[in-house]
Amino acid sequence: MQAKPVSFSRTTITELMIPAYANFGGKIHGGILLSLMDKVAYACAAKHAGAYVVTVSVDGVNFREPVSVGELVSMHASVNYVGRTSLVVGIRVESENVISGENKHTNTSYFTMVAKDMEGKLCEVPPLELENEEDVRRCLEAIKRKRLKAAFSDEFDNEKNRLDLAENVHLLKNERVVFESKK
Ligand SMILES: CC(C)(COP(=O)(O)OP(=O)(O)OC[C@H]1O[C@@H](n2cnc3c(N)ncnc32)[C@H](O)[C@@H]1OP(=O)(O)O)[C@@H](O)C(=O)NCCC(=O)NCCS
Repeated sequence: MQAKPVSFSRTTITELMIPAYANFGGKIHGGILLSLMDKVAYACAAKHAGAYVVTVSVDGVNFREPVSVGELVSMHASVNYVGRTSLVVGIRVESENVISGENKHTNTSYFTMVAKDMEGKLCEVPPLELENEEDVRRCLEAIKRKRLKAAFSDEFDNEKNRLDLAENVHLLKNERVVFESKK
């Protein structure tokens, strides 16, 4: 399979934040931004894969700043890493105040997508050609993130399976919760 360069599938979606997207506090719903991220991740990953792709997992969605009605939001996506059937798409979200010209970086998130054929079976994706140092840095970060995530997931599963309520209930004492045992 011939490698495809990162630049081949780099994709940006830009959308004006209209009042219908606002929450009760007057800021943009997080779900609107997540939906836009999912769309740009789809376009970018499908372009690289040359196939239909679906979202498997999402990492690093931390909204650092709210987005307001009237701002122009741009989602810049590129493939950071490819496995056999999966791809990691990094998405940088920026929001521009079109009147003042002020620009802010609201978050960077990572969508893992897998490629599927028309029968819904997983299919192999082309290798990724890294074109510059930035591509190399993003790829190495994706590898580190994947390893740390797998280690965290194993450790958390162990903790969850071994969780003994009687042994751990004292942890609630430092939390702002109320619980009265019925025993
Ligand atoms: C994702 C899915 C294909 C995994 O199925 P599976 O039988 O576990 O397949 P595999 O273990 O072979 O994993 C396939 C690839 O997905 C990756 N993957 C699976 N689960 C993952 C996760 N939680 N996070 C990141 N990558 C994951 C694997 O690493 C593998 O990548 P590789 O081929 O590049 O090495 C399957 O769970 C699925 O189809 N989920 C539904 C996805 C969907 O429909 N999304 C739309 C949301 S409505």
